[in-house]
Amino acid sequence: MDIKDKNILLGVTGGIACYKSPGICSLLRKKGANVKVVMTKAATEFVHPLTFETMSNNLVHIDMFPKVSTSAEVDHIELAKWADLIVIAPATGNTIAKIANGFADNLLTSMMLAERSPVVIVPSMNTFMLNNISTRRNIKTLADRGYHILGTKTDLLACNDVGDGKMLEPEEIVDEIDTILRKKDLKGKKILVTAGPTVEKIDPVRYLTNHSSGKMGYALAEEAMKRGAEVILVSGPTSLSIPKVKNFIRIESTEDMYKAVMDNFEDLDILIKAAAPADFRPENISDEKIKKEGKEGKMALTLTQNPDIAKSAGQAKANQFIVGFAAESENEIENAKKKLENKNFDMIVLNNIKRKDAGFKSDNNQVIIINKDNQVEELDLMSKVDLANEILDRIVNRL
Ligand SMILES: Cc1cc2nc3c(=O)[nH]c(=O)nc-3n(C[C@H](O)[C@H](O)[C@H](O)COP(=O)(O)O)c2cc1C
Repeated sequence: MDIKDKNILLGVTGGIACYKSPGICSLLRKKGANVKVVMTKAATEFVHPLTFETMSNNLVHIDMFPKVSTSAEVDHIELAKWADLIVIAPATGNTIAKIANGFADNLLTSMMLAERSPVVIVPSMNTFMLNNISTRRNIKTLADRGYHILGTKTDLLACNDVGDGKMLEPEEIVDEIDTILRKKDLKGKKILVTAGPTVEKIDPVRYLTNHSSGKMGYALAEEAMKRGAEVILVSGPTSLSIPKVKNFIRIESTEDMYKAVMDNFEDLDILIKAAAPADFRPENISDEKIKKEGKEGKMALTLTQNPDIAKSAGQAKANQFIVGFAAESENEIENAKKKLENKNFDMIVLNNIKRKDAGFKSDNNQVIIINKDNQVEELDLMSKVDLANEILDRIVNRL
């Protein structure tokens, strides 16, 4: 992930949401970033600098004119030079006003006058302060300057007003930073990802499904989006939160998924088939709940074959790059190669379904990637998010 090894400067100003800022610091460090913190004097009234010192593993910078200097460097210039990205969270109405107007009356605002990296402003304040004409104008000034202004949430605020102005959660802020820092190597590409299981109805209360959690497909959709692609996510029922993709299509059956894929196929650059659609569905769906009475202890369910999404896409292929997934229990590589050929895929990702610590429902996966030209590459066990990026790297290399 691109956040790794980046120098991120976290500015903290005197808003009540300060108590969440150590969480941002911690998440950034967990993702491998180097973090330095600059606090305003007002911010130190809310959270002790020692908290940030410990979380960032660095000295916290507060004073424009420190009594005891730790180096001969001029802090506000050196910090601006050091940062690959500056995030101010929370950003008070006061600091936003100062930055918008070029004031440099403390270490943070002086540094902002010397900034030269992407800047993320995370406003947080009372609804009336946020909607004040000055604040609105100042935020617009910063947006026009190209700063990334994150939204606020509507909730019961610390001042007991209900309204807009609540700061985003640390996870959401770090996610935005991650997106900003990503290489945009899929910009201009239209990608459709299928994810999750399908549900094939038997009667009004019962259905056939499988163990797919959708985690791999959702990770692919989210990472592709962060890398600049326009993503359509076609998903069966899952319990996952929906990524902010361009188009999200919720489906139930394989026939629904078939339609969603084929309706969009012509305009695609890349199709990634990470879903586990059912090969068969009950021939008849009973209108009434099927009763056990009168069955003499046995019941047969006749299944009929579903449309083959992969095969149809493979046949309709013009310039699209198609990636399929396989879960085989025997002759894995041989069967995956056959599938790649039969379905006219460009790449197939073979899941290791024998490992207990990978695959269905797990956050991790271990796969073998096979290309059209028979190149076979075994990858290590890794998180589905990391694996999504490994797969996308290989797609980018082959496009
Ligand atoms: C309890 C309390 C909570 C505050 N919360 C906020 C806030 O959430 N957002 C804001 O813009 N100002 C808030 N303020 C006002 C700022 O602390 C004040 O404008 C201060 O001058 C900001 O200084 P700074 O921008 O240099 O950090 C709060 C003040 C108090 C006393």
